[in-house]
Amino acid sequence: MLDAAGASCSAPPCVSNYTMWAEETTRRVLNSRHHTYPWKRRGREAFVCPDVRHAGVPCAYVPQDDRLLLPRLMQELGYRGDSAELGVWIEDFSKLILKAWPSGRRHIGFDPYLAQPCVKHERDKHCITSQSDFDGIYSKTKSRLEGQFTAGRVSVLRNTSVEAAQLVRNGSLDFVYVDARHDYRSVKEDMGLWWSKVCRGGVLLGHDLIWPGVRRAVVEFVAKQKDDVHQVFITADHVSSWFFFRRPRECGAGEARAGLALVRLHRQLS
Ligand SMILES: C[S@@+](CC[C@H](N)C(=O)[O-])C[C@H]1O[C@@H](n2cnc3c(N)ncnc32)[C@H](O)[C@@H]1O
Repeated sequence: MLDAAGASCSAPPCVSNYTMWAEETTRRVLNSRHHTYPWKRRGREAFVCPDVRHAGVPCAYVPQDDRLLLPRLMQELGYRGDSAELGVWIEDFSKLILKAWPSGRRHIGFDPYLAQPCVKHERDKHCITSQSDFDGIYSKTKSRLEGQFTAGRVSVLRNTSVEAAQLVRNGSLDFVYVDARHDYRSVKEDMGLWWSKVCRGGVLLGHDLIWPGVRRAVVEFVAKQKDDVHQVFITADHVSSWFFFRRPRECGAGEARAGLALVRLHRQLS
């Protein structure tokens, strides 16, 4: 297991009032002051949220932010644990995550860098990349990323998302970023396998909601998990991203306070 070295999830172990926690979390997302865009992008406002709401889950569109909102929020909310990225390609976005969330402990990118045909209609760049190009991209990405940050802060591992799910303990990640294959079956598979890797109070995030298969997988997934998802957030990047928190466990006020105190102590010591 990759996280055998110690606790790597930093969300509070439980909350005393889920409704209040959910309202506060939503407020923090919508009032985030780290806007990516100086203006509001309206084009995606009616995009996906109606289907999500129809499935019985509240949905909010965040008109001034793109996918970077999530690592920025992790920083703002005091998370300090581990994250995983499914599908890395080159180092650009991983680097942005690492910079936007300096308190994160470790970011692990999984990508097989394997030339393989994608399903019909998928025209993503990795579907037409040769194996020798992939080998070169892997070496450069790994050395550029791992060389630029302190040891252990980021790793690039050559595994598929399905293989990698065997390596990571359940409930051990503050967030998982789903950005590998973009057809319906694959996104459904990745969401299903990696939801349980996210700790309670952590986040599942994904890219490319404009792909019809991604949209369908996300809407179906939250419909199934509605007891554990209080709100879906959709961001305004031109390909649109989605994310939602995993419901934390509820406990008595005393246990919640003690849990929070422990998390704070752990944060001070680490
Ligand atoms: C869209 S790119 C990722 C982009 C990157 N996350 C970013 O934001 O810049 C998709 C990547 O997924 C990888 N990939 C394809 N199949 C995969 C699988 N089964 N598991 C993990 N990654 C996969 C491809 O090799 C490709 O590098």
